[in-house]
Formats: sequence, structure tokens, C-alpha cells
Amino acid sequence: MSYVALYRKYRPQTFDDVIGQDHIINTLKNQIVGNKVSHAYLFTGTRGTGKTSTAKIFARAVNCPHAVENNGSPCGKCPTCQQLLGANMDVIEMDAASNNGVDYARDIREKVQYPPVAGPYKVYIIDEVHMLSVGAFNALLKTLEEPPKHALFVLCTTEVHKIPATILSRCMRFDFRLVPTATLANHVASIFDKENKPYTKEATYAIAQAGEGSVRDCVSIADRCYSCTTGTLTYDDVMAVLGVSSKNSIAKLCKAILTNNTSDILTETDTLVKEGKDVARLSKDLSLYIKDLLTVKVCKNANEMLSLPDDAYFQLVELAKQVQVPKLLFAIDTLVGLENGLRYALSPLMLFESAALKIGASTGEVDVEGLDRRITRLEQQPQNLTAESMVVVDKTNAQSVWRGVKVKLEQLGDPLLLGIWKDISVRFEGGNFVVNCGKGAHTLIELQYKMQLNKLIKMFCDKTIEYQLVEKENSGDLDRRLQSLASTVKFEGGTGKPV
Ligand SMILES: Nc1ncnc2c1ncn2[C@@H]1O[C@H](COP(=O)(O)OP(=O)(O)O)[C@@H](O)[C@H]1O
Ligand SMILES: [Mg+2]
Ligand SMILES: [Zn+2]
Repeated sequence: MSYVALYRKYRPQTFDDVIGQDHIINTLKNQIVGNKVSHAYLFTGTRGTGKTSTAKIFARAVNCPHAVENNGSPCGKCPTCQQLLGANMDVIEMDAASNNGVDYARDIREKVQYPPVAGPYKVYIIDEVHMLSVGAFNALLKTLEEPPKHALFVLCTTEVHKIPATILSRCMRFDFRLVPTATLANHVASIFDKENKPYTKEATYAIAQAGEGSVRDCVSIADRCYSCTTGTLTYDDVMAVLGVSSKNSIAKLCKAILTNNTSDILTETDTLVKEGKDVARLSKDLSLYIKDLLTVKVCKNANEMLSLPDDAYFQLVELAKQVQVPKLLFAIDTLVGLENGLRYALSPLMLFESAALKIGASTGEVDVEGLDRRITRLEQQPQNLTAESMVVVDKTNAQSVWRGVKVKLEQLGDPLLLGIWKDISVRFEGGNFVVNCGKGAHTLIELQYKMQLNKLIKMFCDKTIEYQLVEKENSGDLDRRLQSLASTVKFEGGTGKPV
């Protein structure tokens, strides 16, 4: 028998097979049960989160005569369901990436008029719909404006911002989410169970984590791991398949950096590179490890969240005791900032090593003297400022002063405080400049930004500065901020700045 890739073998066949998208599945089921199906849907979200699969199930559900009594799901057994599972004329799947022209859209417009054969609906699933040309969108729009009663469109896209507003306004929109690691891990485990493949829990978590929220990626990785090992699949097997530097050597390097052991920093890096480790990959693995450390430091249920083998976890805990949060934040910040540089550097290794040494030497606290120098430089050299960086501030208006501070902060290139900017508001009160902070902002300011902020505010007005903690509803507390900071730091693509 030929080998079928796991992600195809386990394509969801019923709504209940779709994981991590309950908010969407429930709504769709309700629409079917309540007979409130609309004519056009837009499914958006990262690749591999279930858009096409859900569209296909939905296409069967609207046609299956037993769907209503079946709580909105297609029964899968009746002649209609059987017919729609095979080749048929009523569910038409198109890929706009390869057919994006206006002729194609006109063709749809004509053919959609012919009634369906098997059930009440003729369903068009248009994948990657953002690739349609302008002409094709216009032709499609005409169809969406006056669809025949039997027509149902499901437009799928990973790039919703490229869809014209005229189309958006005619569709019911569903946003497919990235699937949480724990849900992915359970999914992988259930696939391995069905395949009679023994595994350890840590192995499934490592696979889930590598999937980064995409079910398809995750199942593909599971497939690779599955076929390259006989016997029980372990955490180390997964690491080997992923080509991740062994946690142990990363742990050693990380410890050298965070405890500022210069000679170990250089020798550990050297060892890893000699093993054939790519520097960019090394930098990424290191940031992930530091992210784990941060999790151990700030989250009470870190053990549960990380799902690491015990010895790896205790190694983290030991190291976490020796470092402070600001230093970890500084390390992540530096490594993420390094990402772009590494791509273009003549000597990536040298760049990496100097960053590692810099992290080692820093406490993560603001270097007040250095800051002083930078601010003085900004003050003394207005000719060096470009037009857009000039700040004109109205000293009698607190908001204006605050905008000035923000521009200066941006010039100083400090992303952390800017990341929690919305938690801060300011006002004048008598002779005081009052800075209202949410808990997260307040902690961060007390921890490392007070001097810097004071100095910047003084550049624009000479009031007494007062920091007030306001407990707003929903204002982020430091724990949550740091957690979400840690979990949103993306190490691939993007601007690479943690926010
Ligand atoms: N939410 C999900 N639940 C279960 N499996 C999924 C899910 N999303 C994706 N998959 C798996 O990934 C494969 C591709 O999914 P697909 O629906 O084509 O994703 P998308 O259209 O969002 O890129 C499916 O065959 C299935 O194995
Ligand atoms: Mg798809
Ligand atoms: Zn049926």
C-alpha cells in the first residue's frame, strides 16, 4: 500500500474532528440547525489551521438532509454525503493562486446559475482568494451581489488585508486562530494512538511547539518523526529530527552568557559551530531557551506550560535562580535584534559572539551613564536630527509633552516601554506632571525606566514628576505582560522586535 501523508490521512471529516476552532464550528453548526445559512463566507487565518477542511465539511453539512437532526454536522452516510465526498459537480474547489483571471470569475458567474444535483446548495470554495486580479474581484462581486438562491461561496485567505472592502462587506467573516500548543499535543498523541505508535508526552509537546500553531505543520513534523524512528518516539528523537541544537549544549552556552563567563561563552559557541550549527539557528535556539527561562521566572505553572523532561526542567530552574528578569528581557531583545543583522553580516559568528558577550556583561538595567551621553548628544546636535525626528512641543499641554517623550524614546530605540505605552496616560495637576500607569507599566518603570523618563520629561517641561499606579480593569499586570511578551516574541520573519 502506498504511504499517505498523515496530514492527508487525518483531514477532518466532521465538524468534531476540527480542533482549536470551536468559536467558528459552533456558529456554523447553529446556522445549519437554525436554517440561517448565508450566501458568502470568508475564512481567514494562518495556513494549516483548518480553513479548507472546514469549508468542505460545511459544504456537505448544508446539503445533507440529516444535518439538522445531527446537530449541524453532515451524517456522512446518506447518498448526498457519499456523492459529495467523491468527485461531484456541486462542491467546486478552486485555487485562485493558479486561476486568478477575470475569465475564470466570469465562468463562475455563468456556471453558478445551473442548479445543484445532489442537494439544495452548489458550493464554491475559492482558496487563496486574495490572489484574484482586480477584474476577477469585480466579476465575483457581481455574483456576490445577486447570487442565485442555491449558491454558497466560501472564500479562504491567509491575507485578508488584500481583499477589497466591497467583497469583505458581503461576506460573513470567520477568523481561524492559531491552535494552542496543548491542543496540538493532544492531537498528535491521538494520531499516534490511532497509528499504534508509542511515544512520550514530552515528544508530543516538542512536536506541538514546533508546529507554532499550525495543525498542518505540526502533523507534518509528526509524520517525519514517525517515519524516522522505530519503537517509542522520545523527546530527543524529535529534537534530532528538528535539527535543534541539543538542549544540553544550548543550556551550557546560555549559562555561560547569563553568568558572564567569557571564556565559556567563546568555547561553547565554538563547539556548537564546529558541530555544524548554523549561527542564525543557534541564535534562535538560544532565544527560545531564554524565553523558557523567563517563563520559569514569571509563571507559577511553568512546569505544566513547558512540558519538558524533568532533568531539562530542573536545569532551567537552577539557572533561573541565578538571573534577574531585566537581564533576560535584555537578552531576548538583543537576540531578536540580531536576527536581521545575521542575515547580512560578513561574519555572522563574530556578530553573534559580540552580542553574547554584550548580554553577558550587561545587568539588563538601564546603563544610566550611557543613556546620559545619548540624551546629551540628542540635545546638543539638533543638526543631526532629520526633519521628521524634530519634536515641537507645547509645554502647556501634557499630551504634547508626552508625545515629545515618545519621539525621543523612539530615537533612543527602546522598544520595551513603547510596547506598554497604552497602559500609560498623563496629565498636569497644579505644578505636577502626573504619569498614570497600569500595574505592568508601573512595575517596569520602577524596575528600570524611571531615571530615563524623568530626564526626558524634564527636557520638555519643568514640573515635578509624579508616578501614580492606577488599577484599571484589564490593565495588564507584569506577570501577564511578560508571559504574553514571552509568547508573542516571534523569531522568524516580521520586524523581530518584541512588543
Ligand atoms: N483545525 C484543524 N483540526 C484538525 N486538523 C487540521 C486543522 N487544521 C488543519 N488541519 C490538518 O491540516 C491539513 C490541512 O488543513 P487545511 O484545512 O487545508 O488548512 P488551511 O486551509 O487553513 O491551510 C488537514 O488535512 C488536517 O490534517
Ligand atoms: Mg487551505
Ligand atoms: Zn448525509
